Amino acid sequence: MTSVQRRAFNDAVTGFWSVAAPLYNIPFLQRWMYQPAQDEVIAVLREHGARRIADIACGTGILADRIQRELDTEAVYGVDMAEGMLKQARSRSSAVKWLTGPAEALPFEDGALDAVVTTSAFHFFDQPAALADFHRVLAPGGVAAVTTFAPQGAWAKLINSAESAAHMPPPEEMRELFSGAGFTVADQHRVKRPDWIQPFADMITVGVKG
Ligand SMILES: C[S@@+](CC[C@H](N)C(=O)[O-])C[C@H]1O[C@@H](n2cnc3c(N)ncnc32)[C@H](O)[C@@H]1O
Repeated sequence: MTSVQRRAFNDAVTGFWSVAAPLYNIPFLQRWMYQPAQDEVIAVLREHGARRIADIACGTGILADRIQRELDTEAVYGVDMAEGMLKQARSRSSAVKWLTGPAEALPFEDGALDAVVTTSAFHFFDQPAALADFHRVLAPGGVAAVTTFAPQGAWAKLINSAESAAHMPPPEEMRELFSGAGFTVADQHRVKRPDWIQPFADMITVGVKG
């Protein structure tokens, strides 16, 4: 994708999510689609004892708010490009710091964070650029946890066609992307979900900055 195409794609994504924001918090959608990945991210953050944490493409702020309430943290940030999503996030929590910005150019100093996480949004990103910026903003030993939709079989071919702008990398490609950005891959596994939704099961990849 050229940079002009990438900008048009990002504008379309931002516009869509700004309009879709009010629908996003519907309980069954949250419970079946988004919560399983968020549960796994919380477990990774707890295991690593991260205290300065940013949730990138935070949407309406459900995960960042949970991180702030459920973990022992020093600072929690939620970052998104879509003002419509951030508007909902701001009304959810005043303890999280909500910031506008793209995943590929994060509003943090080098080495400022212990953990960067993102759920259900990586397919929208310029993936090498986003992972390079995750690596930049992490302190040594910091952790990046990324959940991605990882459709299997025929679904994978259909969704990941050459024409599709939103690319969902298969497991090996995710590991290569992490390594290419300078991370050591510490873990990768499928997110546990109910059987009926398994064809869409997502995957979590965890990388550590050396
Ligand atoms: C499906 S929602 C996921 C929200 C949240 N992470 C969750 O799991 O509930 C996708 C979000 O990604 C955001 N997004 C897409 N591309 C982005 C980018 N390049 N930088 C920052 N945010 C982005 C959209 O604005 C939207 O809020």
